[in-house]
Amino acid sequence: MYRIIEASWLAPEVKRFRLEAPEIARKQRAGQFVIIRVHEQGERIPLTIAASDERTITLIVQGLGKTTRLLNQLEAGDAVRDVVGPLGKPSDIHYYGTVAVIGGGVGTAIAYPTARAFKFAGNRVVAILGARTRDLLILEAEMREFCDEVHVTTDDGSYGVKGLVTDSLQAVIASDNRPGLVLAIGPIPMMRAVAETTRPHGIKTVVSLNPIMVDGTGMCGGCRVQVAGRSQFACVDGPEFDAHAVDFKILAARNAMYREAEQRSLAEFNAQRLDPHHCRLTEAHPGSPPP
Ligand code: FAD
Ligand code: FES
Ligand code: MG
Repeated sequence: MYRIIEASWLAPEVKRFRLEAPEIARKQRAGQFVIIRVHEQGERIPLTIAASDERTITLIVQGLGKTTRLLNQLEAGDAVRDVVGPLGKPSDIHYYGTVAVIGGGVGTAIAYPTARAFKFAGNRVVAILGARTRDLLILEAEMREFCDEVHVTTDDGSYGVKGLVTDSLQAVIASDNRPGLVLAIGPIPMMRAVAETTRPHGIKTVVSLNPIMVDGTGMCGGCRVQVAGRSQFACVDGPEFDAHAVDFKILAARNAMYREAEQRSLAEFNAQRLDPHHCRLTEAHPGSPPP
């Protein structure tokens, strides 16, 4: 069991957890992730290690479906059944002069440790953070602590510039500080749009892919992605890949494969949550006696 030391909401449906996991904390490097199971019968889901200290790792979780919403019901003092990691290749950190880091939604949490690592490597780091609306923007203050520039875009114009991250990226590319590298992490359509924005400029662009993962060790094939015409397993060959070589169409289709079952499972979970006799600890740890 992995004890939750701290839990706090960053935005509606987005929660930050600090978990006691000293062995993972000591080994992890920017860009790596863990696979967790909330309880014994739970499914395995990957989550990026957003930060760590000597004893703890920080995870930032967007409640999208059943497992992430179940996890987001937990509080400090509760525990998670399994945490396996660190998994995946660490981010490839070099000096590029200026690095533009683009985070869309919860993608900002995934980009955050890598953006810091680029800063420590001496780069000028320009962050472009996008969200649908102001309330959904996360980690702006944390990014401002070390980034040289932070641009914010919202789809509805409720904060920052109204528009898409690619609008701000165009402006950064046209500026005196044209980036030597662009890192984009967020929804698939956003990463694809960033790749198409940088392609004509020949700017190296990296994306962190989010295919469905199960074992996280290259054995199950669940996370197969197509990069430069070759099959790659995102859990061991990635999750970061050359954005200009990724087949985003296949990625989007594979991620939608279980949508019906996922929606059914979420509907059942929401119905249980509305049940006044339902206990969140029993749901998170089935089989254990009610407290
Ligand atoms: P479901 O309703 O089951 O699924 C919703 C959608 O999530 C699916 O349509 C599919 O696209 C995706 N998904 C479902 N199951 C999996 C799975 N086993 N593995 C991967 N994707 C899945 N999310 C965060 O909020 N914070 C993070 O730091 C984070 N880091 C990630 C790092 C990696 C390397 C990857 C691959 C994904 C990461 N994700 C992160 C996404 C997160 O794993 C999914 O949102 C989560 O698995 C959804 O589970 P669910 O049961 O709540 O939703
Ligand atoms: Fe099974 Fe990558 S998650 S091969
Ligand atoms: Mg699920």
